[in-house]
This record gives sequence, structure tokens and C-alpha cells, in this order.
Amino acid sequence: MRWLKSTLVAAASWSVASAQLLEQEDPDFTPTPIEYAVDTLSRAPGCNIADFWRLARQLSPGTEIRYPNTTEFDAATERWSNVGGGVPYVDISVAPETEQDVMKLVRIANNCNVPFLAYNGRHGAITTLGQMNWGISIDLKKLSGVSISGNGQTATVLGGTNSKVLIDHLWAAGKQAVTGTCECVSYMGPALGGGHGWLQGHHGLIADQFVSAKIVTADGQLRTVSSNSDLWWALKGAGHNFGIVTSVTIKIFPIVHTNWAITTLMYTGDKVEALYQAANDYLLQNGTQPVDIINWSYWMNIPPIDPTGPVVEFYIIQEGVTAVDTAYTAPFIALGPISVTNNTGTYKDVSSWVGISLDGPPCQKTGAANPRFPLYLPEYNPSAMAEVYEAFKEGTNSSSPFANSLFMFEGYSMQGVKAVDAASTAYAFREDNLLTAPLVQYTPGNAALDAQAQAFGNQLRNILHAGSGRSQKHIYLNYAYGDETKEEMYGHESWRSAKLLQLKDKYDSRRRFNFYGPAA
Ligand SMILES: Cc1cc2nc3c(=O)[nH]c(=O)nc-3n(C[C@H](O)[C@H](O)[C@H](O)COP(=O)(O)OP(=O)(O)OC[C@H]3O[C@@H](n4cnc5c(N)ncnc54)[C@H](O)[C@@H]3O)c2cc1C
Ligand SMILES: *[C@@H]1O[C@H](CO)[C@@H](O)[C@H](O)[C@H]1NC(C)=O
Ligand SMILES: *[C@@H]1O[C@H](CO)[C@@H](O)[C@H](O)[C@H]1NC(C)=O
Ligand SMILES: *[C@@H]1O[C@H](CO)[C@@H](O)[C@H](O)[C@H]1NC(C)=O
Ligand SMILES: *[C@@H]1O[C@H](CO)[C@@H](O)[C@H](O)[C@H]1NC(C)=O
Ligand SMILES: *[C@@H]1O[C@H](CO)[C@@H](O)[C@H](O)[C@H]1NC(C)=O
Repeated sequence: MRWLKSTLVAAASWSVASAQLLEQEDPDFTPTPIEYAVDTLSRAPGCNIADFWRLARQLSPGTEIRYPNTTEFDAATERWSNVGGGVPYVDISVAPETEQDVMKLVRIANNCNVPFLAYNGRHGAITTLGQMNWGISIDLKKLSGVSISGNGQTATVLGGTNSKVLIDHLWAAGKQAVTGTCECVSYMGPALGGGHGWLQGHHGLIADQFVSAKIVTADGQLRTVSSNSDLWWALKGAGHNFGIVTSVTIKIFPIVHTNWAITTLMYTGDKVEALYQAANDYLLQNGTQPVDIINWSYWMNIPPIDPTGPVVEFYIIQEGVTAVDTAYTAPFIALGPISVTNNTGTYKDVSSWVGISLDGPPCQKTGAANPRFPLYLPEYNPSAMAEVYEAFKEGTNSSSPFANSLFMFEGYSMQGVKAVDAASTAYAFREDNLLTAPLVQYTPGNAALDAQAQAFGNQLRNILHAGSGRSQKHIYLNYAYGDETKEEMYGHESWRSAKLLQLKDKYDSRRRFNFYGPAA
């Protein structure tokens, strides 16, 4: 490796605009971390380091650069899921101050053929991200903000805005929008893959709310796109593959109901088959689940409650009421739960009821590996549910490294999602009513364990798939493990693959945006 002797006016929060860089070759030189990063980035064949810095000096003064072996770098790059080999690695983390800076950074990276990846909530867990093994993190944290526009019917959301920031901003103005349910993920990360949220039954997926977007494409152009662009279709479901969205204007709505209520029922594993038969009969109703009803469930080990196997926590959530209608809860209470708990509050409380508010365990970055193995289904197959329960119980027993795993069943209302023409977006799976996923949690450290977790997760997913009677799997990209096929994530119709390929060739011929579930 060629070390460059470089002198920088540098500090922990370092602005390229004010940096002075002197370079000369010196074989005995021991690099500082920033010098190491610069050298790493310039190692691509044909990279002109002088050009690199000429462009770098044009970044706004507030642009923040972090380099390895600093606490700031570690904090800016730690991930929610850490499967061995499945996590991105970068040599430098740059947080642009403006959307123009995002554009310049893509040009800088292109100039030296350095890989780059947008970092946002860092909850993206698909293991294809591990192919990003050197280069630049374009950290969107400074591009955070919301402004209400269009007479209160739209809002413009900057590309790095966190979901909770958006929810709170709109709520204060008497508005709401479809966002992810989890408070700690970014707004854009889920949206670009379709995006599920509490309000999708009314208004559709998160991506269905887009009115226009500003996006930096692989050629370093900052484009404004809307329904008249061929990128529009791609952005709604395969968006991570086409650029960095610096802001998006979305539909927002007046708050209709502030009240929400939940009944949480806990069951032992022997009730699984009857429980999910009841869920089909009384809640799902073949995709016509009432629009004000959402039902989720989790399976997890809570030994003090049941040392013999995972318990089932079953949530029935209702909008616009102070208590869940007994018509919905009665069949489930009749099944004999271990406990029934009721809660009442507002829309803003729902995430904490199901444990995914900012302080909830799934929001923390603990160093654990958290791969999921998702599968969309039209409905529950109660006998397959009983079978997969036994497999989950066995694989998460108290001596298993996977004892802290979770099995998630998400049954959102679907009316708004089905009201949108499926062909009009890259998101492909509007006919499905349920999103299931085991989350196999473990402490990473060796490849054998990673392989064992992958085999276990797929074993569970395959039981549900076999029970569906379908030949092809339907996979939610944003939960995907990374071993799924393109068709499984983006749709099995051949016209979809052809369209994605044509658009990738047109807008990303060098496949710069291929780290998050490559689409073509
Ligand atoms: C606890 C938890 C809760 C979740 N809840 C939901 C939910 O309610 N609904 C749902 O649909 N999904 C949910 N997900 C899945 C979620 O959609 C994905 O994890 C998503 O990738 C998270 O985005 P992020 O910005 O937090 O992560 P990141 O890893 O920062 O980003 C994910 C990918 O998106 C890209 N990206 C991020 N921002 C932009 C941008 N502005 N422009 C272009 N590319 C960008 C990144 O480069 C990366 O490839 C949840 C995940 C977790 C872990
Ligand atoms: C960071 O520290 C590790 C261990 O001390 C070292 O191996 C590595 O080279 C350092 N990286 C940089 C970029 O300085
Ligand atoms: C929610 O209820 C519906 C209707 O009973 C059911 O089909 C669906 O499976 C339930 N979803 C979950 C995640 O439990
Ligand atoms: C479920 O709905 C689909 C389409 O919405 C329909 O084709 C099917 O016949 C329905 N099944 C039942 C059992 O009602
Ligand atoms: C919880 O709410 C349901 C539905 O409103 C009701 O039937 C049940 O009695 C309540 N249970 C408790 C413990 O309050
Ligand atoms: C416990 O889990 C481990 C690892 O998943 C598995 O190999 C073992 O067979 C399980 N034991 C029992 C008794 O189910």
C-alpha cells in the first residue's frame, strides 16, 4: 500500500472546506486515521487524489467527517443487526450538511470509483449490505426536518428524518401521515421498499404517499421526480436501488381519531392452532379485516411465565375507541389466555404498546445479530402455525444460542394498500394480508453460528411457506435476510424483472446502488 504523507488542519469535527492538505510520498510514514482513510479512498485505480480533494473542498463547512478508531465514527456506523459478513464496512463517514453536498459526495466517490452507501437509521439488516466492504458512508443525519405545505395537505420531509420526528411534528399541527410503526427507523428507509405502518389501512403504503421527490442518482445529478418520471415506479418499492433521496413531499391528513385502544392477550403454546384459526375467522377475514383493526402477535420465551416454551403475545389494536370492541376480543378471551391487559391512549402510544417505541428493546443497537426470515401470506394456516411453533420452541430452548429470538406476525388492515393498482409500483405484494418473520437473535462471533442461524430461520420460514400451498415465496425486502432471489423480493411477474433491469441499465448502469437487495 502506498502511504501518503499528509498534513491536515483537522479536528474531531472536521470541515473539509477549511482543510489544508499537503501530500508527499514517504515510505517510512505512519499514517494517522484520517490519512489512512484518504489513502484507502484513493487506492482505486485511476483515482486522482488532487481532484478528489478539489471536490471535497467544495462541501459545505458544516459537513462532518468521521474516521475509524474514533468514538464518533463508531457511533455513526454501528448497526442494529450484525450477522458476520453481512454488515457494511466503510473507511470514512461523511455527514453532508445540504442536499447539494450529497450530490457532490456522489460525484467525489464516482471520480475515484469509490463505493458509497447512504446511512440513515442503520436498521437495514439485509446481509447483501456486507458487499459494501470499503468506501464512504454518506450519513444523512443532518438532513432532518419537516415542513408542512400545500395548504396543510402535504409535507416535505428531508431524507434523513427519523419517523418519530415526523410523527411528532405533524401531530403538533393536527396532522398525521403513513409512517413506519417503529419510532427509531428513518422515514425513508422503510418507504423506499414500500413501507408498512399503522395507517396503511386508510391511505396505503408509505411509498403510496409520495407526491414528488428529490433524488441524487448514480450519475451525480440531483433530480426532482414525480409521476411523469419513469423513476417514479421504481422509487416506490425498489427505491434504495436508484439513488439517495434528499427530500420527499408526501400526502398528510388531518387527525381523525386521537383515541386508540389495545387488548393484549397472552397464551401458552398449546393454544396456537385454535388461536390462529380464530384470527383468520374473526380478524383477517380474507383481507377484509376492518380498517380500524390491527392485530399483531409475537412469540418469545419468557421463562417466568412459561418455562416449557415460548408464549404467544397477541395484540388486537383498534382506532377511534377507548376500549377494543368486545366483538373482536370475545372469541380470543374465550380461548383461555394466561392474561388479558387493556390499554387506552392516543395514536402516539401504539408503538410503545407493542414494544417498538424509541426506548423499546428492538430500537437499541446492542451488537447482536438480528436476521429476519420474512414471508408474506394471504392468511394463517393454523396447522402450519402449530408445526412452526414446535420448531421455534425446539430451536430457541434455554440452552440454544437463539433463546432470545422472536417470531413476529403482523396483520395490518389492508384496504388502502389494495386500493392502489399493483402494477403502478415496484412494490409487488399487495394481495398478501400478513407479514410473518422469525427474528433469530444471537451474539455474533463465528461463521458456523451465522450459518446455523440462517438454516434455522429458513427452516421456520419454509414450514409456513409449505403451509401456504404456494409455489413461490413473497418476501418483504425491508425484512429480507439476503439469501432470497430478486423475484422473491421484487415480484415474480417477468415484466417486473424486465422493467427493473431496463431502469437499472438506464439510471445505474454501473450498479452503484446495489448493496441493499440488488434489484437487477
Ligand atoms: C426495530 C425495527 C422496526 C421496523 N419497523 C418497520 C415498520 O414499521 N415498517 C416497515 O415497513 N419496516 C420496518 N422495519 C424495517 C425497515 O424498513 C428497514 O429496516 C429499513 O431498512 C430501515 O431503514 P433505516 O434508515 O433505519 O436503515 P439504514 O440501514 O440506514 O437504511 C436502509 C437502507 O436504505 C438506504 N437509505 C436510507 N435512507 C435513504 C435515502 N434517503 N435515500 C436512499 N436510500 C436510503 C440505505 O442506504 C440502506 O441501504 C423495521 C426494522 C426494525 C429493525
Ligand atoms: C484501528 O485500530 C486497529 C486496532 O488498533 C488497527 O488495526 C487499525 O489499523 C486502525 N485503523 C485505522 C484506520 O487507523
Ligand atoms: C389479524 O386478524 C386477522 C383477522 O382475524 C387475521 O387474519 C390475521 O391473521 C391477524 N393477524 C395477525 C398478525 O395476527
Ligand atoms: C378471498 O379473497 C380472494 C380475492 O380477494 C377471493 O378470490 C377468494 O375467493 C376469497 N376466499 C374466500 C375463502 O372467501
Ligand atoms: C379488556 O377489554 C376487553 C374488550 O373491551 C374486555 O372484554 C375485557 O373485559 C377487558 N379486560 C380487562 C381485564 O379489563
Ligand atoms: C435446543 O436448541 C439447540 C440449538 O438450536 C438444538 O440443537 C437442540 O436440539 C435443542 N434441544 C432440544 C431439547 O430441543
